[in-house]
Amino acid sequence: MADLDDLRDGAVFGEGVAQKTEGFFLKGSNNLDWGMKDRMSRIFNPKTGKSVMLAFDHGFIMGPTSGVERIDLSILPLIEYADCLMCARGILRSLVPPTSNKPICLRSDAGSTILTELNNNVIIDVQDAARLNASAMAVMVSVGDEKTEALTISNLYNAVDAGQAYGIPVMGVTAVGKSMARDARYFGLASRVCAENGANIVKTYYTEGFEKVVACCPVPIVIAGGKKLPELDALELAYKAIQSGASGVDMGRNVFQSDAPAAMIQAVGAVVHQDMKPEEAFQMYNDLKG
Ligand code: R5P
Repeated sequence: MADLDDLRDGAVFGEGVAQKTEGFFLKGSNNLDWGMKDRMSRIFNPKTGKSVMLAFDHGFIMGPTSGVERIDLSILPLIEYADCLMCARGILRSLVPPTSNKPICLRSDAGSTILTELNNNVIIDVQDAARLNASAMAVMVSVGDEKTEALTISNLYNAVDAGQAYGIPVMGVTAVGKSMARDARYFGLASRVCAENGANIVKTYYTEGFEKVVACCPVPIVIAGGKKLPELDALELAYKAIQSGASGVDMGRNVFQSDAPAAMIQAVGAVVHQDMKPEEAFQMYNDLKG
């Protein structure tokens, strides 16, 4: 029992000063519960509303592809420059130091590799995501793929149900398949389907007409980097996406396959958080590389 001696009546009630009711800084996120907002604020910088997510979940379907053969050597030195880490739970538990204190966007679907049929996945147990203190669960959705569309959309809404129970946001990851057109119409449709099914964040790809993709998606969009490009081109891609309204990047190969990954992720960060122009960011990359 607390010491009740000298229990003083409250005196500072601020009568006449209205209590502030603040909105939330992220698009479409104002009605989320406190835990969700707390996690979203760890992923997206509340000052800029943006995020540089470092994606290194590639091994979960591709194995030790270029740049992620040794996560300890190639990825861990980059962690300090990222706002959020996107990876699968095996790599998280085995190699990522919990002391890095970065929010985790946990790859939460599993079940196929590049050797078989992609996206025949199920979702992992949300309790494991909670045990790992995930700030978000990422689930692949293959809109337009006859074989796996229904399964992956049901994965998404099941993940959203589970995430709601624990206050964990879900990121819908739009897949690109051989049969899918990589244009604004397709990405706009796929992103909207993710959001309509409850995704709190959508990851998709930049394309011409991206403003429309962003405009009709009611939650924050981040873009994947895709295949490795020359550094200036990758910075231009990030710049165009941000200027079109993206809330950040979820970039992997264009960072960890760069000649100077630490320089590259810092240059990407300047584009994302400071609206730095691509040429200037490229100069920054070269200076840091030097
Ligand atoms: C895609 O599903 C993978 O999960 C990657 O995380 C994603 O594509 C981002 O990586 P990258 O920038 O290399 O495309």
